[in-house]
Amino acid sequence: MPTAYITRRERFSAAHRLFNPELSDEQNRAIYGECSNDNWHGHNFELLVTVRGPVNPQIGYVVNLKVISQIIRERVISKLDHRNINLDVDFMRGQIPSTENLAVAIWAQLDAPMRDIGVELHCVRVQETENNYVEYFGD
Ligand code: NI
Repeated sequence: MPTAYITRRERFSAAHRLFNPELSDEQNRAIYGECSNDNWHGHNFELLVTVRGPVNPQIGYVVNLKVISQIIRERVISKLDHRNINLDVDFMRGQIPSTENLAVAIWAQLDAPMRDIGVELHCVRVQETENNYVEYFGD
């Protein structure tokens, strides 16, 4: 059976502030600039989740994308959408809410549930702005 990669896009809006509490305000400002402003800022994020698996010859699908969407919504979007990533999101607690850390943490949320339905997570892509995105492949 051929292997195919399929991708589902979801979206969420969330606030954050890039800030390392172990560094001084001055150091935080030097590293993160406006992203470290005291009173948060927000983004309309896009999340693209790619899974791979064999194409089922009877159905023609790797997996029904509705199932993928449901898992992403339950495990990730419902926890992030219209939230403050620094304060509200259990799987980001104690982490600097950079796009990199977000991609790695989202991977951890999705890895096991994707295996449970017989596909493998291939890539988590978090698009923070039109110009910036991060991809994580599980390394
Ligand atoms: Ni930001």
